[in-house]
Amino acid sequence: MIIGSQFGDEGKGKLVDCLAEQSDCVVRYQGGNNAGHTVVVKNQVFKLHLLPSGVVRKKRSLIGTGVSLDPRVLKQEIDGLKKQGIEVNLGIDPRCQLIMPWHNVIDIGKEEALKEKNIGTTRRGVGPCYADRASRIGIRFDDLIDEKRLREKIDFNYPYYKNLCEKILGKKFDFTQEEVFKQYSALGKEFKEMLTDVSIEVNECLDKGKKVLFEGAQGTLLDNDFGTYPFVTSSHPTSGAATTGIGIAPQKLSGRIIGIVKAYTTRVGSGPFPSEISGEEADALRNAGNEFGTTTGRARRVGWLDLPMLRMTHRLNGFTEIAITKLDVLSGIKKLFIADSYTIEGKKVFEFPYANHLTEKAKPNYTEFKGFVLDTLERKELKEKGYSVLDENAKKYLEFIEKKLNVPIKTVSFGAERDDTLTKD
Ligand code: IMP
Ligand code: MG
Repeated sequence: MIIGSQFGDEGKGKLVDCLAEQSDCVVRYQGGNNAGHTVVVKNQVFKLHLLPSGVVRKKRSLIGTGVSLDPRVLKQEIDGLKKQGIEVNLGIDPRCQLIMPWHNVIDIGKEEALKEKNIGTTRRGVGPCYADRASRIGIRFDDLIDEKRLREKIDFNYPYYKNLCEKILGKKFDFTQEEVFKQYSALGKEFKEMLTDVSIEVNECLDKGKKVLFEGAQGTLLDNDFGTYPFVTSSHPTSGAATTGIGIAPQKLSGRIIGIVKAYTTRVGSGPFPSEISGEEADALRNAGNEFGTTTGRARRVGWLDLPMLRMTHRLNGFTEIAITKLDVLSGIKKLFIADSYTIEGKKVFEFPYANHLTEKAKPNYTEFKGFVLDTLERKELKEKGYSVLDENAKKYLEFIEKKLNVPIKTVSFGAERDDTLTKD
């Protein structure tokens, strides 16, 4: 299982791609096309939002019920991959909730209504789609593939939301009811063959001892309960969510749970971020790490590595190991910092606070590290000889994290390419 330990964008796509090769199938179980996973294979760049990254490796790829599915985006992604020479082998759970055009309108309208308190969503309609699931008026993939059922659902939802959007949010629909029906029923015809009971398929795989890769999207600090609510996403980007988002029992998850930790911290959208930095130092880090959103293109906020944050995400997810990503981005920075604790109202705390009014007061207590250089030459050596040749200062940085969290770092990624990765024992 691959889990984002920070605010998303930890570089999960690359790790999923590396592990997909050894897996029999790859499953997504939460989030939607708010995610953005970049996979680079031999100079070919794949940008995925909805499809499990395993599709690039032509593996059996599954979308579990916990995913909110935009069939318009699904079509774009499948067609795009076809152009890049990839045929997808995809199964979709019939229970998946669909993102409908009005969900995008609500997502945008609500953000505008919140004014300066807006969440900074990706505007993909993911939140409103999950809200419909909870309020039991959602439309599911199973409805998409049956014209009668689809029409019935749209007959209720379209006028209901048109009214709400126009009267309350002041947003006009630029699509008619018939247009939505036609577009979605055509998509249903196209994807009909992909229907599979993902719960049954994954359980059978596990029972036969096959290798299943669970691909988490977003990061744990964006969890709907445990993240920096309300500046969070609408799903649970945690390991436990795989049980409900696919339909498997907790004791079946006996394998590796890999926490993906970027060597520093970034966040897109609003909300607390105690170790955030600004000015030239931040610009340099942002540019070196190309920290601009895959989904929205927004400049990401950047900061130092934060251990109170990671202590919480380890507690919530039970990492059996950590993969550090983007270590190369820190190359050339003279002094590096890791926040080991916070001071909140004069008290030293090691755990991430449960509420934003506390987190906003948190002053990070930093440990300083000497910088290191990881340029082309050093990376070439690393690829050939592995961890032992890594700069001593970089080793100190990594070993501090391991010691403080008491979880082994097993993988270190130091570039976008697949082989810019080393295994550490
Ligand atoms: P939503 O998921 O589009 O509703 O956005 C809610 C918050 O989660 C916003 O701050 C987004 O920027 C953030 N978010 C959602 N998906 C991702 C992701 O894949 N990576 C990073 N941030 C994300
Ligand atoms: Mg991303």
